[in-house]
Amino acid sequence: MSGRFITLEGGEGVGKSTNLALVVELLEARGHTVVETREPGGTPLAEEIRDLFLGVRDETVHGLTELLLIFAARAQHLETVIRPALAAGQWVVCDRFTDATYAYQGGGRGFDNDVIAQLETLVQGQLRPDLTVYLDVSVEVAAARIAQREHDRFEREAREFFERVRARYLALAEASARYRVVDAGEVLGVVQADVRTVVNEYIGQVPR
Ligand code: TMP
Repeated sequence: MSGRFITLEGGEGVGKSTNLALVVELLEARGHTVVETREPGGTPLAEEIRDLFLGVRDETVHGLTELLLIFAARAQHLETVIRPALAAGQWVVCDRFTDATYAYQGGGRGFDNDVIAQLETLVQGQLRPDLTVYLDVSVEVAAARIAQREHDRFEREAREFFERVRARYLALAEASARYRVVDAGEVLGVVQADVRTVVNEYIGQVPR
C-alpha cells in the first residue's frame, strides 16, 4: 500500500521543528518507515533554491518570481523524494507544503489564487497531503518568540502580512477536512499533547 503524506504548517515561532520530531516519533512507534523533510528544500537543488528564496537582497523580488521559485523547488522535491517514498509505502512528514504558498504568496502577498492553483495542478497533479496539522498562534506571540533571531526575507515583513497569512491558514483549515488546528500559544507540553492526540487519531483511522 502506498504511504501517507502528513504536513505541518504554521507561522513563525510556533515550534514546528519540535512538533515535527514528535510526529515522526509517533509514526515510527507504530512501525511506519518515515521520511522527514521540509519545504522549501528537501533535496540539494531544492535547498539551494531555498537559499535564493529566503535570502535578503537589495533587488525587489517580483511576486511571480517568488512563486515560480517555490514551485520549482517543490517539483524537484516531489519527483526525487516525496513521490518515490509514498510509492514505496513510506510515510512522508513534511515541514510546510503548498498550503504555505496559499498562505504566504496568496494571503500575505495577495497573489492570485487561481494562478497558484494552476501551478499546484501542473506540479502535483492530484497529489495532496492526507493530513495537515496547523500550529496556530497569534501574530504577537509569534513575533515575540522570533524577536531574538536573525530575520529572513519573510520574517522581515510587517505585522499585517502575518495577520493575512494566519487568516488564510485558518480559512484553508475551515474549508478542508484534512486539517487539524492545534493551539500553539499554549506551553509546549500542552501543544505536544494535542499534536499527539490528532496524529494518533489519524493513524488509528488508516487501514494497515
Ligand atoms: P521555515 O520553513 O523555516 O519555517 O521558513 C520558510 C519560510 O518560507 C517561511 O517564512 C514561509 C516561507 N514559505 C513561503 O512563503 N511559501 C511556501 O510555499 C513555503 C513552503 C514557505
